[in-house]
Amino acid sequence: MARLTRLLLFTTTAALTLAGPTNHTEKRATKNDKEVLILGGGVAGIIAARTLFEKNVKNFLVVEARDELGGRMRSMEFGGHTVELGANWIQGTQHGSGPANPIYTLAKKHGLKTMESDYFGSIETFDETGKVNYTKTLMDAVAAFTDLTIAAGARVPTQQVDLNCRTGYSLIGKKPKTPAEKVTEYFLFDWEHAQTPEQSSWIASAWGNNFTYNVNEGGFSDDNLLCVDPRGFKHIIKSEADEFLKPEQTLLNATVAKIAYSDDGVVVTLSNGTRITADYAITTFSVGVLQQDDVIFEPALPMWKQEAIQSTKMATYTKLFLQFEKKFWFDTQFALYADKVRGRYPVWQSLDMEGFLPGSGIIFATVTGDWSEAIESLTNDQVEAQLLSVLRTMFPTIDIPKPKAFFFQRWFTDPLYRGSYSNWPASLVTPHHMNLRANVGKRLWFAGEATSQKYVGFLQGAYFEGMDAGNNVASCVVSGGKQCQSLPFAESIPNASPYVPQ
Ligand SMILES: Cc1cc2nc3c(=O)[nH]c(=O)nc-3n(C[C@H](O)[C@H](O)[C@H](O)COP(=O)(O)OP(=O)(O)OC[C@H]3O[C@@H](n4cnc5c(N)ncnc54)[C@H](O)[C@@H]3O)c2cc1C
Ligand SMILES: *[C@@H]1O[C@H](CO)[C@@H](O)[C@H](O)[C@H]1NC(C)=O
Ligand SMILES: *[C@@H]1O[C@H](CO)[C@@H](O)[C@H](O)[C@H]1NC(C)=O
Ligand SMILES: *[C@@H]1O[C@H](CO)[C@@H](O)[C@H](O)[C@H]1NC(C)=O
Ligand SMILES: *[C@@H]1O[C@H](CO)[C@@H](O)[C@H](O)[C@H]1NC(C)=O
Ligand SMILES: *[C@@H]1O[C@H](CO)[C@@H](O)[C@H](O)[C@H]1NC(C)=O
Repeated sequence: MARLTRLLLFTTTAALTLAGPTNHTEKRATKNDKEVLILGGGVAGIIAARTLFEKNVKNFLVVEARDELGGRMRSMEFGGHTVELGANWIQGTQHGSGPANPIYTLAKKHGLKTMESDYFGSIETFDETGKVNYTKTLMDAVAAFTDLTIAAGARVPTQQVDLNCRTGYSLIGKKPKTPAEKVTEYFLFDWEHAQTPEQSSWIASAWGNNFTYNVNEGGFSDDNLLCVDPRGFKHIIKSEADEFLKPEQTLLNATVAKIAYSDDGVVVTLSNGTRITADYAITTFSVGVLQQDDVIFEPALPMWKQEAIQSTKMATYTKLFLQFEKKFWFDTQFALYADKVRGRYPVWQSLDMEGFLPGSGIIFATVTGDWSEAIESLTNDQVEAQLLSVLRTMFPTIDIPKPKAFFFQRWFTDPLYRGSYSNWPASLVTPHHMNLRANVGKRLWFAGEATSQKYVGFLQGAYFEGMDAGNNVASCVVSGGKQCQSLPFAESIPNASPYVPQ
């Protein structure tokens, strides 16, 4: 009640003050009384904060559970070197004077050390007999993926229903049968989406590819730069924050347990019981965190919002790092391993190379999707044994020792993430995604990689969504709530044509 009175008074005062902009920081008294809470200190959170700062909204607080900023940009020391557990590539850079990936722009600004990643030119191929050359099969898979994105595009103007990418591949006549055909399809598809073609929307996968990589469709470029900076990829977001964020605007080691929201504002309760009140909150937690009730909303989110959250998928991408006494493997950046079982330790990357981490003895494998989820419940020793058995298959004539070091991050079971990045299933229709993005009431806003329609999953998606939420909330704050534009949402999402029981 006291709060409501204060807000009403403020509105009255603002209405009477005809000359000059309102000083919207003046009314603040206590430490826990913020204009905006930014929940999560990853890319979306930091860019939202920067946007508020640029709009002269300075009474905000970034609340982050971990002891550093960066979120899924996360590096660690491994065997005396810096490796990236989360995001590693700048995906899409800039073509001529076309649109630039904002992550590429930040990387240049902050002097990030990167290397060009040559997915298709610096690669060797293996199967269960050892090294075999199926480069031609790989090139067929590249062409098949392009055809898949083109065929998806042809469905849009005629308003054909979305289907999953397995159906899409089959309809364009691509039906991988051999282990080599399967692993090359995996490299083009699962290795990017962190889920299988069966689990992924045909149209959204094509958009995801086009808007980032395809310059004819508004994309940045088809280049991928791998971060090899000893300060970690997170260096760019930390340096960006250093330019505007004051120590008192960040609360680290602070896990949000509950977000209560009403027409008057928000009250956030931390896991240690501390309460922080604010006029607005922007949550940037992953859609996985929202799905698993790791944070409780009070009142519960409306059904249209819950349906959107539960209809998307938080996929998992796992890098498994091994360090050996000395390098015994391929001299290319990449290797593919075609097992009879699709998705069994299929992609390998060498870091022990000129320009990367020469002399490090580090190699890493990637698994994705269901495989990632499954290995998180195994012990490290069990997973290491599986990796060694694959390496011994790939290099049958080499006596492979036990590694000096082994590590993988368990993103799927981590309550701060619940996976790596979102992936769009065929049953998630466009209005669902609109609802995922939409604010709930005027006080509670959502941003992050998953709310981006054009760049789902990517760092650039988190960046643009943080900027958008920052701009929208800044308008609310600066206008004293009078120019607070809600994003569109749909109460319920009907079928294109009703199912009629026969
Ligand atoms: C393994 C992996 C590989 C990837 N590879 C790439 C890549 O090469 N290129 C690329 O473009 N993208 C990649 N991504 C995706 C990219 O990292 C994400 O899209 C992006 O970092 C998401 O930013 P965000 O701000 O939306 O979310 P986040 O970074 O998740 O930020 C949310 C923040 O909220 C915090 N948080 C969560 N719960 C709570 C709570 N209860 N209380 C307080 N704080 C909380 C988290 O700690 C986190 O810091 C990868 C991700 C992973 C995990
Ligand atoms: C707004 O008010 C605060 C608190 O009284 C004060 O510190 C600040 O200088 C004022 N800003 C402007 C632009 O007047
Ligand atoms: C956060 O916690 C870590 C580990 O418990 C501690 O080292 C660090 O000083 C804390 N940081 C802040 C800002 O409280
Ligand atoms: C593999 O075969 C392709 C032709 O299909 C050839 O161009 C390439 O050089 C071969 N690669 C190796 C490593 O032998
Ligand atoms: C993706 O790009 C291709 C090639 O430019 C285009 O033909 C196709 O329509 C696009 N797909 C979608 C879903 O927009
Ligand atoms: C709760 O955690 C926050 C963030 O780390 C800290 O600032 C605050 O002092 C803690 N409160 C209590 C009562 O421990």
